[in-house]
Amino acid sequence: MAWAGWRFSAADDPMPVLAVPHSEKAPQRTDLSEKDRRRVADVVRPTHDFSRPEPFEAMAGGAGTSTAKPDRAGLTHPAGNLDGGGEESFRLGSALFEKLWVSSPSSTQASDGLGPLYNARSCETCHIRDGRGRPPAGAAGSPSLVLKFSFPDTLRSGAGGDPVYGRQLQDSGVPGLPAEGHLALRYEELLVTLADGERVSLRRPVYGIEGLSYGALDSATRLSPRLAPPMTGLGLLEAIDVADILAHADPDDRDGDGISGRPSWLAPGASGAPVLGRFGWKAQAATVRAQAADAFATDIGISTPDDMRSHGDCTARQPQCLAMEDGVQERLGPSEAPDPVLDLVAFYARHLAVPARRNVAAPAVLKGKRLFSDSGCTSCHVPKFVTRRDPTSPSTAFQLILPYSDLLLHDMGEGLSDTVPASAPGSTDEAKPLPGEWRTPPLWGIGLAQTVDARAGFLHDGRAQTLTEAVLWHGGEAQAARDRFVSLDAADRRALLAFLESL
Ligand code: HEC
Ligand code: HEC
Repeated sequence: MAWAGWRFSAADDPMPVLAVPHSEKAPQRTDLSEKDRRRVADVVRPTHDFSRPEPFEAMAGGAGTSTAKPDRAGLTHPAGNLDGGGEESFRLGSALFEKLWVSSPSSTQASDGLGPLYNARSCETCHIRDGRGRPPAGAAGSPSLVLKFSFPDTLRSGAGGDPVYGRQLQDSGVPGLPAEGHLALRYEELLVTLADGERVSLRRPVYGIEGLSYGALDSATRLSPRLAPPMTGLGLLEAIDVADILAHADPDDRDGDGISGRPSWLAPGASGAPVLGRFGWKAQAATVRAQAADAFATDIGISTPDDMRSHGDCTARQPQCLAMEDGVQERLGPSEAPDPVLDLVAFYARHLAVPARRNVAAPAVLKGKRLFSDSGCTSCHVPKFVTRRDPTSPSTAFQLILPYSDLLLHDMGEGLSDTVPASAPGSTDEAKPLPGEWRTPPLWGIGLAQTVDARAGFLHDGRAQTLTEAVLWHGGEAQAARDRFVSLDAADRRALLAFLESL
């Protein structure tokens, strides 16, 4: 056997994201009969008739879609098909989502355990009215833009993150403990001229950190800013069958359309099989519950039965942080937030309703829908799925939904890459999301984003202030679609935007 030099292969992969070979034969759903499978295939087939809305199109979130007034509370409603018990859990979960945690020791003992290092005291602080976060404006910081740290895993085993600062920059500490530092952000202007002469100014962010309190970052640490995404329809995304997601994957671009789409395989779960990541901007979490447990520990500094870090994101090299009192109380259980806090918060996050579409039959919206399809946007923003049959979750089971996402990772080009310091040693972690790779975000509810919060930002770091800016940042696999958008005349562009606003 001749050695042609060491090559990366999936078998050697020590990383949490596994490269699972693309199989020739697509896996099939096991929850459906052959007849149902054909019915589902018919229902999700892309439409070619843009003269009228499709049946049920307005009910983008299936049976639980909210038809409440599309106002600033438009993303806060429970799925309309919860039973009495479900509504009760939703209400309790909602209170916990808004609850402000306090530092230990406190007089209200069931709420303490905050930090010691943290970014915000409640989930709601970042996921504003259950919608997305806002980027910082001027000198004022914004908790909902979080600076994550990643570290080439080839150099160190473990959960990733900076050796001193951990997984992310915490810009708050409990009394007596200095915050880690503060995000410093400035924007450079980038002018883009569209085909019809209209000029659009884009903001290119430049990230730094001010006032690092615990020494320098490791020279290999990468910065990855992330804005809090909206909480819309998450239980429905969880209910999409893996086979239906893999059906859209084309990692080697065999069909030659310039768009690949890679599933985000995570390290084996309890069953021993790799699990598919769906949540977070890089599809790095498999379930809403896993993401919620991580948020409790890393963003707020509260331990839960699924993540027992009662000192949150403190590392061994932050002894002062580790020495602070935590909020664990023996009589309530071994974690700061005992059962059923995580259950209820996860239930809540899984059952926030998708808002009903507005104006689906308006001529401009239908024209925009056609242009969205003709421009190739639907190659990644896949319109339709039918969720799994699942007797354990009837409110999300077996429904036609229109999330406009494939939940796959795509290379979006250099303009959207996370910052990689020049000093980063060459890493071989090909299976991990690359700097420019992002999960296609679902677009349902996006038309209400700035109704819910006028300062809501678009894209993974909120740099885009308008939907037009968001599209203009598309590059890499989405370059051709972006170029088609640029070449539209003003009326067509307005129609495409009217379609996005109707989502
Ligand atoms: C400091 C701000 C902040 C706080 C507090 C916060 N989050 Fe988040 N949340 C984020 C960011 C940023 C992301 C994206 C993470 C990523 O991509 O790495 C996110 C992602 C999520 C997601 C995935 C959504 C999706 O579409 O993929 C869920 C679910 C979530 N958070 C739930 C919660 C819950 C529950 C809490 C409270 C326990 C919470 N978050 C607290 C900032 C926050
Ligand atoms: C190759 C796959 C791909 C194609 C094609 C594509 N997108 Fe996207 N889209 C993405 C990804 C991935 C992101 C997230 C990028 C980021 O945040 O850095 C995104 C983000 C967006 C956002 C912002 C979403 C949010 O929650 O902030 C909008 C709006 C959008 N796309 C619209 C479009 C339109 C319109 C088209 C067609 C002109 C299009 N996209 C084509 C993959 C794609």
